[in-house]
Amino acid sequence: FSRCAYPDLSISAEASRAMAGDTSLSENYAFAGMYHVFDQHVDEAVPRVRFANDDRHRLACCSLDGSISLCQLVPAPPTVLRVLRGHTRGVSDFAWSLSNDILVSTSLDATMRIWASEDGRCIREIPDPDGAELLCCTFQPVNNNLTVVGNAKHNVHVMNISTGKKVKGGSSKLTGRVLALSFDAPGRLLWAGDDRGSVFSFLFDMATGKLTKAKRLVVHEGSPVTSISARSWVSREARDPSLLINACLNKLLLYRVVDNEGTLQLKRSFPIEQSSHPVRSIFCPLMSFRQGACVVTGSEDMCVHFFDVERAAKAAVNKLQGHSAPVLDVSFNCDESLLASSDASGMVIVWRREQK
Ligand SMILES: *[C@@H]1O[C@H](CO)[C@@H](O)[C@H](O)[C@H]1NC(C)=O
Ligand SMILES: *[C@@H]1O[C@H](CO)[C@@H](O)[C@H](O)[C@H]1NC(C)=O
Repeated sequence: FSRCAYPDLSISAEASRAMAGDTSLSENYAFAGMYHVFDQHVDEAVPRVRFANDDRHRLACCSLDGSISLCQLVPAPPTVLRVLRGHTRGVSDFAWSLSNDILVSTSLDATMRIWASEDGRCIREIPDPDGAELLCCTFQPVNNNLTVVGNAKHNVHVMNISTGKKVKGGSSKLTGRVLALSFDAPGRLLWAGDDRGSVFSFLFDMATGKLTKAKRLVVHEGSPVTSISARSWVSREARDPSLLINACLNKLLLYRVVDNEGTLQLKRSFPIEQSSHPVRSIFCPLMSFRQGACVVTGSEDMCVHFFDVERAAKAAVNKLQGHSAPVLDVSFNCDESLLASSDASGMVIVWRREQK
């Protein structure tokens, strides 16, 4: 598969703009159209689609049909390499390990599974400590032996995937069903969002895997928090650590992280349609290399929306139409040449960005 070479982060903003061609963000996010449509999950929602780390052409999606599919986009034609089966109910979430050799998945069947991406083998099945539906998962970014899961009984658990056991001191209770999780890049802060509208921050102890509850933000009482994405800095112009949140409020929210306990301050919001579906959003991976900074989100209007977080007026820079159901998740590959989006009817579209 084809890996991405990352540009040197130490170069100046001017030099990086020159590399990016000094084009406007809307030009940067012009799409040449659909590259491929995957329909192996049609009829059941695909809540999560993710490109592998540092990889241009490998993609996975999980479905409420109970399976996860691994897809290869090149060589043409794109193919479904394998389908991971074993969960007995819908797969709510999954994540790639840093080296892409392992996937973890969480399911409504109250188990998490560890898979070998190479041959699709299920390495381990781990029951949720509370026997509850599992709704989300994320790898500890520095120690991939640890995964955090969120469940329907309001708990987050740090799981040691080498042993299949929960880590002592690594559990904590939220105010509702845990729908979203995100670590900061160094893995020292974890945010978890629930279906009652709260986001909690936790300090993560690297040596022991213990969680310490730090701050609570009520985004909006009663509005499910369906997505959290952390970013250490948004752009060369805005170097604050930031958090992107979807919370069924018909807008995408951008927060600034103001201290090392994960306290959040609302910076701005962008209009989308989201009142009930588990819509997710992301920061664009290469945004620091061009003028402005961009975020992408699903929406219940069946479109993929792009916003420039630095532009005061007319923040909407692009909108992709092609889905025929609410768009639930989006993922860029590592060089941003391809964007994948998934929807509530199970369709996954891969879009090709115009290369200048
Ligand atoms: C993960 O666990 C394995 C053995 O179970 C160990 O060899 C490896 O060093 C651990 N990795 C980290 C990052 O702790
Ligand atoms: C996870 O399990 C491995 C293997 O038993 C162990 O070496 C490691 O210390 C555990 N990690 C934590 C944080 O408990």
